[in-house]
Amino acid sequence: MGRSLKYEIPGVDRRCDSLELAERGFDGLFAADMENASRRVLEIGFGRGEFLLELAAKQPETAFLGVEISFKRVLKMARKVGRAELRNVRLMEAKGEVVLRDLLQTGLLDEIWVNFSDPWPKDRHAQRRVIQSAFVRDAARCLALGGTLHVATDDVPYADQIDEVMEGEVLFENAFAPERWLGNVPGRIQTGYEIEWRAAGRPLHFFAGCRVAAKPEGD
Ligand SMILES: C[S@@+](CC[C@H](N)C(=O)[O-])C[C@H]1O[C@@H](n2cnc3c(N)ncnc32)[C@H](O)[C@@H]1O
Repeated sequence: MGRSLKYEIPGVDRRCDSLELAERGFDGLFAADMENASRRVLEIGFGRGEFLLELAAKQPETAFLGVEISFKRVLKMARKVGRAELRNVRLMEAKGEVVLRDLLQTGLLDEIWVNFSDPWPKDRHAQRRVIQSAFVRDAARCLALGGTLHVATDDVPYADQIDEVMEGEVLFENAFAPERWLGNVPGRIQTGYEIEWRAAGRPLHFFAGCRVAAKPEGD
C-alpha cells in the first residue's frame, strides 16, 4: 500500500492560487514577507523541488514563484518550504503555460526556468510538450530586457524542438552561441532528475535565451 499524504504544513503555508496572482500581482503575493524583491524568478515544473529550494536559499532577496501541475508535488514542496522557512518562495498548482500566457505582467521576470519538462516522446503527443512557439513568445513577453529563459532536457527530439522554437523567436538571443546548447553548465545547481539522468549517462541539453528587443538580422 502507498504511503498516505501528509496535509499539514510545518510553519507557514506558502501556497497561492491563480486568482490571488491575478488580483494581487506577482509582488502582492510576497507582500507579507518581502518589501521589494531585487529580482523575480519563475520555475515551471519544479518536481521534487531540489533546485528551487537551493536557489531560493542562496538568493533571499529574490522572489521565486514555483508552478507545478501536480497537486501532490505542490503539497510536498509546501511542507519543505515551510520547514526551511523560505519567505521568498510561493508555490502554485497550475499549468506553467497558462500562468505565462494569462497571469503575469509584461517585462516582470528576470529568469524563467523549465528543467526537464516531460518530453512526451510519441509523435502524436508532441503537442503536449511545454516548449512550443507560443510558450516561448509568452516567456519573452514576461521577461525584462536582459532576462533569461533557461530550458533543459535529456530527450534528443525534444532538444531539437526547443532549439528550433528558441531560434525562431526574434526576442531571444542564444546566450550559449555559437553552441546550440551546452551539455554541461559549470556552477549550475542540479535538479533531481538531472542527477539521476547524468548518472545513467543520458545526453543532457541546456539552453539559455537572453531577452532582447529584437535579434540582429541574419542571426
Ligand atoms: C520530469 S519532471 C522534472 C522535475 C524537475 N524539474 C527536475 O528536473 O527534477 C517534470 C515535472 O513537470 C511537471 N509538469 C508537467 N507539465 C507541466 C505544466 N504544463 N506546468 C507545470 N508543471 C508541469 C510534472 O508534474 C513534473 O513534476
